[in-house]
Amino acid sequence: MEPPVLKHLLPAIILGFVTYPPEVPGLKNGLALTPPMGWLHWQRFMCQTDCKNYPTSCINDQLFMQMADIMVSNGWLKAGYKYLCIDDCWLAPQRDKNNRLQADPDRFPGGIKKLADYLHDRGLLFGIYQDVGTKTCAGYPGSQDFYELDAQTFADWGVDLLKFDGCNCGTLEELEDGYRRMSIALNRTGRNIVYSCEWPLYARRETQVNYTEVAEYCNSWRNFDDIADSWSSVKTIMDFTAAFQDRLVPAAGPGAWNDPDMLVIGNFGLSWNQQVTQMALWAIMAAPLLMSNDLRDISLESTALLQNQEVIAINQDPLGVQGYRLLMAESFELWEKPLDGGSLAISVTNRQEIGGPRYFPLLRAVLWKGLACDTCYVTQLLPTRFEYGYFNSSRALPLLVNPSGTVLLRLE
Ligand SMILES: *[C@@H]1O[C@H](CO)[C@@H](O)[C@H](O)[C@H]1NC(C)=O
Ligand SMILES: *[C@@H]1O[C@H](CO)[C@@H](O)[C@H](O)[C@H]1NC(C)=O
Repeated sequence: MEPPVLKHLLPAIILGFVTYPPEVPGLKNGLALTPPMGWLHWQRFMCQTDCKNYPTSCINDQLFMQMADIMVSNGWLKAGYKYLCIDDCWLAPQRDKNNRLQADPDRFPGGIKKLADYLHDRGLLFGIYQDVGTKTCAGYPGSQDFYELDAQTFADWGVDLLKFDGCNCGTLEELEDGYRRMSIALNRTGRNIVYSCEWPLYARRETQVNYTEVAEYCNSWRNFDDIADSWSSVKTIMDFTAAFQDRLVPAAGPGAWNDPDMLVIGNFGLSWNQQVTQMALWAIMAAPLLMSNDLRDISLESTALLQNQEVIAINQDPLGVQGYRLLMAESFELWEKPLDGGSLAISVTNRQEIGGPRYFPLLRAVLWKGLACDTCYVTQLLPTRFEYGYFNSSRALPLLVNPSGTVLLRLE
């Protein structure tokens, strides 16, 4: 029988290995060496195809062209958000007579190639959506039986990223086979196309998933349910990720990322403190930063948060180690993310949703053993920038954290 103490320590032991640059067997297409950044329509615009009643928020070429213009003019592209991605509901109800995919002719009258050219002319990259099964989640033609043809069509159109959903696919074997085949088909086109999978999510999430293998075929992969525009949704994703971090964290690295789904900052559901928490944790989790919001109508506050270069730098750190939850105590959560050069990012979230701001005493001794500095310089990046100065093991650093808010620090 295993000594119980060892079992208890197992996650910590596994995470011990994560503290060094991991040998990640990621998809070797040279892409997504840092988490992809961009915009994806789903959470905010969903499957709105009624352009008569919703002329400015239906899924059509105008929506993407307007978003593209704003990504360039309002600093989004400059901040690093370069992939502009379509989700479900762009397709016509049928393939054409040669079995090629075609966009809905009313909503994308110029076709997808023309839209891709429009984005490329502005320095953006173009993401598209398809599904491994017979139909997409919204019921449009899926890629099953047409993986090679569809990969070629996407390459011909100038697609730079494919989000590949997992609805309407029979058995687990068919699902896994389909994800593998599309990966190979994309590679064979010779075009650089980031491959964003939902393989683990549809393979019944945490069970039966061989993450080493998923990472060999995909640049990123969803593990958990779609995000909604709510604090409860953000919390559930954080909790899921922490609960399975001993399996998820080692799978991530340059070219291979766990995807906790879109940033919903700038919409309706999150308070300011909760927006700060999502931004901080998505940076710590080395998550793809794919916003789903309306860039035509977003507050200056949310814009500044999403474009915060020091926070983005934590997400995009070249070491590519996904952060993990280090401890929970008195309704606080401490997460840390080892950074290049022996620096460290830390987030402290106050999960007590009653009362006011509370102090969390940060101790040097509990932090990552690879932290290069003995006396470290501490900069608070969120909720506001503040330089604490030097911090060593002789005292605790008291951090004041708002309810449902997060303090994000960089130690170097
Ligand atoms: C295809 O795969 C090979 C081997 O992993 C890799 O070297 C190459 O860069 C890939 N090409 C594309 C276009 O993804
Ligand atoms: C998981 O996948 C890797 C890479 O394909 C393989 O080497 C390994 O044997 C697999 N592990 C299990 C338990 O099947």
